[in-house]
Amino acid sequence: MSLLHKTTLITGSTKGIGLAIATRFAHEGSKIIMASPSSSPSHPSFLSLPSLPPSTTPSHFPFPLDVSSPQSWSHFLKSLPPSHQKIDILINCAGISHSKLLTQTTEDQILSLINTNLTGAILGCKYIGKQMILSSRNRDESTTTKCIINISSLLAKKSVLGTSVYSASKAGLLGLTTSLSKEYGAYGIRVNAILPGYIETAMTQEIPREKWTSEIPLKRFGTPEEVADAAAFLAKNQYANNCILNLDGGLSA
Ligand SMILES: NC(=O)c1ccc[n+]([C@@H]2O[C@H](COP(=O)([O-])OP(=O)(O)OC[C@H]3O[C@@H](n4cnc5c(N)ncnc54)[C@H](OP(=O)(O)O)[C@@H]3O)[C@@H](O)[C@H]2O)c1
Repeated sequence: MSLLHKTTLITGSTKGIGLAIATRFAHEGSKIIMASPSSSPSHPSFLSLPSLPPSTTPSHFPFPLDVSSPQSWSHFLKSLPPSHQKIDILINCAGISHSKLLTQTTEDQILSLINTNLTGAILGCKYIGKQMILSSRNRDESTTTKCIINISSLLAKKSVLGTSVYSASKAGLLGLTTSLSKEYGAYGIRVNAILPGYIETAMTQEIPREKWTSEIPLKRFGTPEEVADAAAFLAKNQYANNCILNLDGGLSA
């Protein structure tokens, strides 16, 4: 399967891993919907996306989506131009993190993290999944499948001090993925997850490099482009469903 002419919605795609996925998918000919709170037609990340063949108009679409808000999703769904209404690939990448012991974490911090990282992805799977199911009614077995990719984390499974709420949100994404791979798989919608380890982005800027690189078997953090490569694999491989892909340089071993 090729990504050419596919429409891909990527939440959390103005920077870091989401932007790398958007750039990679656009390079392969996919129309990108860049959905983050700061998304706009003049955002440097939006302007940096590779352009598509001139016949694909409009090529990419930015929307200031807050994944944690059902109202924002509702506004988003009503604002999609006809050219972008049939979404083939949904990548739930929006995420925030903080490192704090649970007893020192405020209720607001807990709610905002769970609402962004987990509820946001559940809402995306619900709204976009419904559209995908409706459009799968006319699909015959020979056509390519639609696909959802949830960006979870190594911390869904590995214990690191001060990450309990984040870990819970990312473990929740694994339950969501496995359950939906059955529920949506019946409609030809594949649901998969990537568990990145430590990746070089703004989110990991303050993490002490020496401690972790000595523990990672490959002795370095990963790059956003390496995660994008895994996303391209999952989007294209027509037999990947409930594929839970570790991408952590061996840190999970
Ligand atoms: N970096 C790592 O080592 C690592 C490892 C494992 C998993 N992950 C996961 O990978 C994903 C991307 O991480 P990253 O390192 O690329 O982070 P990042 O560079 O901090 O980027 C976070 C992205 O999420 C967006 N975002 C934040 N709140 C949002 C909301 N309410 N609705 C929609 N979008 C929202 C941000 O948009 P604005 O710029 O508009 O705020 C930004 O585009 C996250 O889910 C993270 O948990 C990261």
